[in-house]
Amino acid sequence: MSKTQDFEKQDKEYIANTYGRFNVCFEKGKGSLLWDVEGKEYIDLGSGIGVTAFGVDDDEWSKAVIEQTHALNHISNLYYSVPQIKLAELLCKKTGMKKVFFCNSGAESNECSIKAARKYSHDKYGEGRNVIVTLVNSFHGRTVTTLSATGQDVFHQHFFPFTEGFIHTPANDIDAALKVLANPAVCAIMMEPIQGEGGVMPLDKEFVQAVTKYAHEHDQLVLIDEVQTGNGRTGSLYAYEQFGIEPDIVSTAKGLAGGLPMGATLFNEKTQYVLTAGAHATTFGGNPICAAAGCTIIERLTPEFLATVKAKGDYVKRVLEGKTGVVGVSGMGLMIGIETTVDPKKVIAKCLEKGVVCLSAKNKVRLLPALNIPQEQLEKAITILADVIGELASE
Ligand SMILES: Cc1ncc(COP(=O)(O)O)c(C=O)c1O
Repeated sequence: MSKTQDFEKQDKEYIANTYGRFNVCFEKGKGSLLWDVEGKEYIDLGSGIGVTAFGVDDDEWSKAVIEQTHALNHISNLYYSVPQIKLAELLCKKTGMKKVFFCNSGAESNECSIKAARKYSHDKYGEGRNVIVTLVNSFHGRTVTTLSATGQDVFHQHFFPFTEGFIHTPANDIDAALKVLANPAVCAIMMEPIQGEGGVMPLDKEFVQAVTKYAHEHDQLVLIDEVQTGNGRTGSLYAYEQFGIEPDIVSTAKGLAGGLPMGATLFNEKTQYVLTAGAHATTFGGNPICAAAGCTIIERLTPEFLATVKAKGDYVKRVLEGKTGVVGVSGMGLMIGIETTVDPKKVIAKCLEKGVVCLSAKNKVRLLPALNIPQEQLEKAITILADVIGELASE
């Protein structure tokens, strides 16, 4: 029995059966290279689903994490915490937002947005104005409330009763959205700038601007879910910047701490005082190690660095568009969806065989490489990916 088969057997014996895993067990990595337990090398175009923003064992990140581990690994939110303050200051100064609440995941960052939006409205308008509009095909998380927010029926099963107060409207249909927003019970609209799990589907700028304008004119909050699109992924610090809007609340996670569990909810001038002492809390949120790690990520997302993210994304699009089996390439920066004439699962399996790690999202192959993936590794991996798609399409 190979090491992989042995670990597969143990995994099946002890791990809850919630994941369909590929038959690979990774052991270590450096930057955008990974090695499995058999010693095989891979180029990583997935970064743990958009998490290891500067790759695996990035020197600056590892140094900060190790130093913070020795200094103070946890203290709770009963006291001031220097890494937390530093990261919040960085986020606020770079975005113009005013306050940050730290948590541990994307779903939690959205829970915080949702709670704050409802409290904002309740404080100001009283009961009955608590509905949040979200988009069809969105994905906002796996807690009972963020599943309710998620605009895909496939997620509205098994776990009844779901949280009330969400209405889903089709993405990019301005008339439909404005009709829904006219409902006096609506307090907010929540959107992902690019629907990630929904198949890397960027929203139309016109749509985002129109609904934001209407919402702001009617004191409905604009909540932007940047869990996947945030922290440099699309070539700007947050993707909303490229849509020319100013959100009231931004939620993020994934790449924020470069490989440690951390989420954040950012509040603007209008919403910064909504969550008061005792209104919301978490034991681990803003943990010093995660926060120290997060500083090493956010500090490095300078305009010059973000331009390289855009350039690498443009390179991938240029190479893949028009290739045999490629129907189209969507996304922004290094958040890329590739529609192919073949089953994306087959593409991913074949790429793994050839030493390239890719992801899928709905009917697309999805790429979320580390933001600093070396150009030569990116070129090698994209050549392999293009060949695999071409071979499968010609079968
Ligand atoms: C846009 C978006 N929101 C929320 C989530 C949930 O994040 P988490 O899995 O960290 O709870 C995800 C995860 O893929 C996401 O892409």
